[in-house]
Amino acid sequence: MKDFYITTPIYYVNDKPHIGHAYTTVLADVIHRYNKLIGNNSFFLTGLDEHGLKVQQSADLKNISPQEHCDKMAPEFIKLWDKLGIQFTDFIRTTESRHIEVVQHILTKVNESGDIYFDEYEGLYSVSEERFITEKEFESGNFREVKKIKEKNYFFKMSKYQQKLIQAIKSDELKILPQTRKNEVLGFLENQELNDLCISRPKSRLNWGIEIPFDKDYVTYVWFDALINYISSIKFSKEEDFFYHRWPADIHLIGKDILTTHAVYWPTMLMSLGLPLPGSIFAHGWWLTDQEKMSKSLGNVINPLSLIDKYGPDSVRYFLMREMVLGQDANFSEELFIKRYNADLANDLGNLVSRVTKLISKFYDSKIPKFVNQDSILKEKYSNILLENRIKNFEIHTLLKEVTDFIQSINIFLEENVPWKQAKSDLELAGDTLYHSIEAIRVSTKILEPVMPRKCMEILQILSSEDLGLDWGSLQPETLIREQVVVFPRIVD
Ligand code: MSP
Repeated sequence: MKDFYITTPIYYVNDKPHIGHAYTTVLADVIHRYNKLIGNNSFFLTGLDEHGLKVQQSADLKNISPQEHCDKMAPEFIKLWDKLGIQFTDFIRTTESRHIEVVQHILTKVNESGDIYFDEYEGLYSVSEERFITEKEFESGNFREVKKIKEKNYFFKMSKYQQKLIQAIKSDELKILPQTRKNEVLGFLENQELNDLCISRPKSRLNWGIEIPFDKDYVTYVWFDALINYISSIKFSKEEDFFYHRWPADIHLIGKDILTTHAVYWPTMLMSLGLPLPGSIFAHGWWLTDQEKMSKSLGNVINPLSLIDKYGPDSVRYFLMREMVLGQDANFSEELFIKRYNADLANDLGNLVSRVTKLISKFYDSKIPKFVNQDSILKEKYSNILLENRIKNFEIHTLLKEVTDFIQSINIFLEENVPWKQAKSDLELAGDTLYHSIEAIRVSTKILEPVMPRKCMEILQILSSEDLGLDWGSLQPETLIREQVVVFPRIVD
C-alpha cells in the first residue's frame, strides 16, 4: 500500500523560525503521528528554501556567501524541530545536489516537451515578492519595491493548463481546503486568463539559484525550484519504486499566503510532467498578535524557542493545535496560552490523573480495581469519538475539542458516582467507577499522545500502560500504578 505522504512548506532561511513556521510543522507532525497511530506508514517531509533574492540579501548584509548563510541558518531550524519533538522522515535543503539534479532534469524535460519558451517581457516586478505582478495587483497597494523591468527570460506555458486545472479543482481531483480557499482559487481562475510563468532570472541580476541547464546565463526562479522539493525528496526520476510508493502527496500543508503558488503553479507543473496531482492542499490561517499580523517591523513576532524554554514543548504543541480552528486566523498571546494550559491541562487532565490514581492507591493498594459492569456512560461516549474520520479529514482541532469534552465528562462521572464515598460501603462498586474512570483517562491520553508525546508518555507510564492501544478495556485489573508526579503543574501568573 502507498505511504501516507504529508509536507510542510520549505521555509526561507533569510530569518530565524517563528511561531508560524512552528505551527505548520507541529500540525504536520501531529497528522503524521496520528496516521502512524491508526496503522498507516507515513512519510513526513519538511525542509528549507535556500535560494533566491531574500537569502542572497541576508547573506550580503552579513558579508558572507549565501551558502555560508544557509549553513548557519539550517541548524537553527533543526534545533527548534528537535526541541519541539518533530519526527520528520526527511529534511530537504534546496542547495543539496539531490534536489538540484531533479530541478535541472525537470527543466530539461519540460523544455523538450515544448512547454518552455524564451521571450522578452516588460512588466512590473515586485522585488519583495520576487515575481512579476499584474497592473491590478499593483493597484491593490499590497506590493512593495515595485520596479518596471524589461528583460529576456524563460517562460513556462502555464496558461495552456488553465481549463484542465479548473476541472481538477472543481471535481476535487485536487482538493483545496477549506472550501473558502477552493472558491477563492476558482474565482481567480475563472475570471481571468492565466499568464505564463516566468521561470528564470538573468544571472546579471540574481545569481543565487539553480542554473538553467540549457542556458548558463540564467538561474531558475525560486518558486519553480522550491516546489519541486516535494518530489525531489522522494527521488523523482531516480527511483521509480520509491517515488510511486509515496507520490502523490496526500496533503500539502501551507499558509493561506502561499495558496496561488501551490494551487496554480505547482499543479500545472505536474500536468506538464504528466504526474498525478496531490490529493489535497490545506491552507491554514495566520497567527496574529493582538489581532495584528506579526511582522519584524512591528516587533511583535513570537519566538517559539523562548516559549518552549519557559513552558515546555508539549504545552506549546497543545496550545497551537487546540487554539487555531483549522483554516481561520487565531490570536496568540502569553495570557491566552496560560489560560488554555491551566484550564485544559493543569485543572482538567492533570488534576484528574492525580485524583483518580490517589484514590486507587488509597483503596486498592495501587492496583487497578476490577470492573463489575462491562459498559458505562464513559465507554459509550468514547465510542462516539470518530478518530479515524477526524484524522482522514485533517480535523485535528475538532478532535481535540472532542477529547477535552470527554475528559470533562470523566470529572462529571466522578462527581456523580462519588467513589471516595462508595468505597466506604461498597468497594466493588467504587472499583467499577474507578476502573471506568482510569480507562477513560488512559484512552484520552492515548488520543492526545501525537499532540503531546512526552507528557502523555509520562501519564501512560504512571498507568503502566505504555504499550496498550486505543481499544477500550485494554487496561487490565491488577495492573500496578506507579508513583505519580504532577504532570501539568499549574502556571501561576
Ligand atoms: N519558502 C516559501 C515556501 C516554499 S514551499 C515550496 C515560504 N517560506 S516562508 O518561510 O516565508 O513561509 C513559510 C510558511 O510560514 C508559509 O506557509 C506561511 O504561511 C507561514 N507563516 C508565516 N507567518 C505566519 C504566521 N504569522 N502565522 C501562520 N503561518 C505563517 O513562503
